[in-house]
Amino acid sequence: MSKPDQLIFMSSTQDLSVLRQQIKELESQTRRMDPTKAEWTDWLTEVNSYLNEFLVDTREGPAYRQPEPGKSQEEYTFSLSTNGESLSNALDEMREWVDYSGLNPASGGHLAYIPGGGVLPSALGDLMAAVTNRYAGVAFANPGAVALEHFLIRWMAQVFGFPESTGGNLSSGGSIANLIAITTARDAQGVRPSDYERLVIYGSARMHHCLHKALRIAGLGFSPLREIALDERQRMIPEDLDRQIRHDKEIGLLPFLIIGSAGTTDTGSIDPLDALADIAEQENIWFHIDAAYGGFFYLLPEMKLRLKGISRAQSLVIDPHKGLFLPYGTGAVLIRNIHQLHASQYYQANYMQDAAQADLGWSPADLSPELTKHFRGLRMYMALKLFGIQTFEHALAEKIALCQYFHHAVQDLGFAVGPFPELSVTHFRWAPKGRDLNTVNRWIMGRIHEDGRVFLSSTTLEGQIWIRLAVLSFRSKFRHIEETLKMLKDIVSKLPEND
Ligand SMILES: Cc1ncc(COP(=O)(O)O)c(C=O)c1O
Repeated sequence: MSKPDQLIFMSSTQDLSVLRQQIKELESQTRRMDPTKAEWTDWLTEVNSYLNEFLVDTREGPAYRQPEPGKSQEEYTFSLSTNGESLSNALDEMREWVDYSGLNPASGGHLAYIPGGGVLPSALGDLMAAVTNRYAGVAFANPGAVALEHFLIRWMAQVFGFPESTGGNLSSGGSIANLIAITTARDAQGVRPSDYERLVIYGSARMHHCLHKALRIAGLGFSPLREIALDERQRMIPEDLDRQIRHDKEIGLLPFLIIGSAGTTDTGSIDPLDALADIAEQENIWFHIDAAYGGFFYLLPEMKLRLKGISRAQSLVIDPHKGLFLPYGTGAVLIRNIHQLHASQYYQANYMQDAAQADLGWSPADLSPELTKHFRGLRMYMALKLFGIQTFEHALAEKIALCQYFHHAVQDLGFAVGPFPELSVTHFRWAPKGRDLNTVNRWIMGRIHEDGRVFLSSTTLEGQIWIRLAVLSFRSKFRHIEETLKMLKDIVSKLPEND
């Protein structure tokens, strides 16, 4: 076998027969890149057996294994070789360093942050998307793949009561979906560079930090951001928003964007969306809702009232990799007027001229910053197609019920709790009299992470540490809640007498 440095490319005078010989040799050396049916089947069998072993651990094992203390990144000795290695070498590395340490987000015991999913039909979709490598960026390249993604956007638009004129995009997650919405809001309002310092944004101290990043990336980092006062359930108070807008207008500023949350990450609170929409409409201000976490609960008839007003946003973010239990890597944004989304995200390059066929309809590449992209629609479609929408509704209702059950049961153990959960996040803490509660609850968090059967996270609200329970994994079941309660009971029974 020739080494690459012996494969000298021809000069313009070289004999073609030499080049032919080189091509043949290169062909034989690259043949392995397209495995035979038998080789491919062997790989799938080996990966399938690895994954089945992983799924047993996911269903029965802990949600969290504390990484070895003090182990640095350099100690993970991943390596590459010149001639490639066996699949089992790669799987061994995953087994040793990746899939059995730290947090297992696929576990039903993952009850922290906003849990992820990983429904298996989506894995089939991803496998198919990778093998077929359909180009879902431009309608010209694959009208069917693009039509599938538009179909899903339209389905979501219908779910959320958005009009026919709606456009959207399947993004890599909620952060990028929010960024698309913010840049569209900026561009749709004809913002000019000289306006930036006078444009006012209204949000809450509880809005997700990706919105702060999006505003900064969109050049709005120096625009005044008003944090509207919150009620006792951590929801924006519309009267304060109204007062603030009036004040800003009086002093010559330009109220520009209201950001509401449908399910904050900290406490699962839902801002009074309908009242915010009234103000936005009256004042002619763009209304954006980040419903990355809470949006899909709108599928449940019982939640329509609680999320009332969601249909009135100019832009809405919802995360299928949260509320539809998909594996990480799928967010979504809906923009009420597709022309505004298009005007903000589109570009025409010379080398793309053949693809610009208007009669094929909209292309995701003209509705988002991405050109070449993963065919995300397939993983979402496969999950909805195989399970049916009602299964998702039942799963979402189950998450709310589990959270409510926990909220009651943890009080029976003597914990103090925050307000009754609006969605599937609740917070609580151990509050013995005369103790430093932050020290006590930090100690409890440490024991929870050491235990690892289930994984919880904490937050700080008005300077006070609270432990959170967030139920959104499709694998979270009653036994995980019972296990959590048992673990908490054990832990507080061992609380040291002094801080
Ligand atoms: C309310 C909310 N918005 C936005 C995001 C960001 O989404 P992503 O992590 O998919 O980028 C999150 C993530 O947890 C979230 O909870």
